[in-house]
Amino acid sequence: MTTVGKLRLGVNIDHVATVRNARGSAWPDPLRAALLAEAAGADGITAHLREDRRHIRDTDMEALAAGIGIPLNFECAATDEMAAIILRLKPHAVCLVPEKREERTTEGGLDVASDIDRLTAYITPLRTAGCRVSMFIGHAPTQIAASARIGAAVVELHTGHYSDLHAEGRLDEANAELDALRKAATYAHSLGLEVHAGHGLTYDNVAPVAAIPEIVELNIGHFLIGEAIYMGLEDAILEMRRRMDEARGLL
Ligand code: PXP
Repeated sequence: MTTVGKLRLGVNIDHVATVRNARGSAWPDPLRAALLAEAAGADGITAHLREDRRHIRDTDMEALAAGIGIPLNFECAATDEMAAIILRLKPHAVCLVPEKREERTTEGGLDVASDIDRLTAYITPLRTAGCRVSMFIGHAPTQIAASARIGAAVVELHTGHYSDLHAEGRLDEANAELDALRKAATYAHSLGLEVHAGHGLTYDNVAPVAAIPEIVELNIGHFLIGEAIYMGLEDAILEMRRRMDEARGLL
């Protein structure tokens, strides 16, 4: 077991808004969920303002930016519309993700390597405004090197493929994916990037990712909001935190 520092837990509250929007009502309120997550010891709140506003809306982002006492991680596609909102709200962090309208969730990592000049220009004003900019990428070394080159502070490694393989019981393939994530974390760290990870993490699959020593933050949403139905958001978060701490050798 590794003995490394405590991991930060960012709680993604998008799917509180999904439930609200299913009925077109005002509840459940994402801000209330964010405040509960904060009370449960979350280190940050992540919310994804999608182009189609399918869950989080502009007014949610405004309420979160004004209402929470922990860092807000503003997740979005690298569009001019989003840059204008970010520069107005000045969140603590920005995580850039690829976005396709037809996808159910963020299915792959961002192709930073093919978009170096545009992304360098895109993130410069965000960095100047004080936002910690993160690239949500797969584990390919080219994407990690490109993220460092454009001046991003952070890479968030996409754990969705690992999570899917684990859920399907394809454990050899899941382990190969974990190995690639481990190598990616080591490489990103060696380039001076802060390393985060997220997507599809659950109580059952979080431990090996949490144990990767270079990773300092996990962002977890869908599973926690689902568990909250059974046990409440606070207990769902506390249990995830316990498993993360255990994987780090801290318990
Ligand atoms: N990190 C990023 C960049 C994401 O896009 C998402 C999904 O919105 C997550 C983390 C959280 O993934 P999940 O909801 O599957 O826990």
